[in-house]
Amino acid sequence: MVNKITVVGAGNVGATAAQRIAEKELARTVVMVDVAEGIPQGKGLDQWESAPIEMFDSRVIGSNGYDESTGSDIVVITAGIARKPGMSRDDLLNTNAGIVKSVAEQVAKTSPNAIIIVVSNPLDVMCYAAMKASGFPRERVIGMAGVLDTARYRSFLAMELDVSVRDIQAMVLGGHGDTMVPLISYTTVSGIPITQLMAKDKLDAIVDRARNGGAEIVKFLKTGSAYYAPSSGAVQMVEAIVNDQKRILPCSAWLQGEYGMKDVYLGVPIKLGRKGMEQIIEVSLTADEKAALEKSAQAVREPMAVVKI
Ligand code: NAI
Ligand code: 2OP
Repeated sequence: MVNKITVVGAGNVGATAAQRIAEKELARTVVMVDVAEGIPQGKGLDQWESAPIEMFDSRVIGSNGYDESTGSDIVVITAGIARKPGMSRDDLLNTNAGIVKSVAEQVAKTSPNAIIIVVSNPLDVMCYAAMKASGFPRERVIGMAGVLDTARYRSFLAMELDVSVRDIQAMVLGGHGDTMVPLISYTTVSGIPITQLMAKDKLDAIVDRARNGGAEIVKFLKTGSAYYAPSSGAVQMVEAIVNDQKRILPCSAWLQGEYGMKDVYLGVPIKLGRKGMEQIIEVSLTADEKAALEKSAQAVREPMAVVKI
């Protein structure tokens, strides 16, 4: 357990993440910060009132400012707005970049030693905004997307094979978008290569479904996007840091030569422990996987080049 974890943005992802963090007792105090008046306070109190039933002692509080979050060990940023009618992709990009920038500046002032986990979209560019605005080293600004994309891929594989999700090992790399790169060569079921268990057309369909996993949920919900699995993804990263687990998880990391790429945030396998990102693991890739990763990096570089931070 650490002393304090702050979740910025008390919307669907943020509030669900805060509840999960409290239920797992990962911090003594869990602070939710949001600009919406009354929302973080109300949700925080409601969550705290579940403590005697769920049996946790993590105290959850909500605030519209950063005083209560001072000295946080970890800050999860989920603040942002969804795309509205008439808004271009670039409008959304710059609006959310402005939000993430102001949040990261506040975090740097009030919690200078925190590890930041970014969830806001577009994910990889928002990581860049958070790193730039906070001035934190890359080890302490990491993005959550690969854990979610991999969980979706693993859940679809388990469903198709009718086996436990526990036995599916897989990794989805690249940017958080339709250029993401599920690594078929590293997908196994209890060590058995997936290609021995599933026909290529079925596997291709599952890869495609994972790539469009976010859109599939939006189509059902209509007014919002996924939040149960995304909050689980963020909390898995929080747990790896709090408990110094040295988990190897696919996360968005600022590349400085790894995978032959520089100055771009991209989903790659990293070791996560108490210091944040402790190592980037470079796995060997097929020529097709390398090309797909490069294409995915290009899809991140384009908005990075136009974003105003
Ligand atoms: P939501 O709309 O339910 O919540 C967003 C919250 O941010 C709102 O409560 C809003 O008041 C707050 N907010 C806006 N500006 C703020 C500011 N300056 N400071 C503090 N709070 C502020 O949205 P939801 O569903 O929780 O999603 C949050 C973000 O996470 C979105 O950008 C979404 O696209 C992204 N996301 C990313 C995923 C990933 O895999 N990286 C997965 C799912 C969502
Ligand atoms: C998702 O993949 C919207 O990025 C979000 O569900």
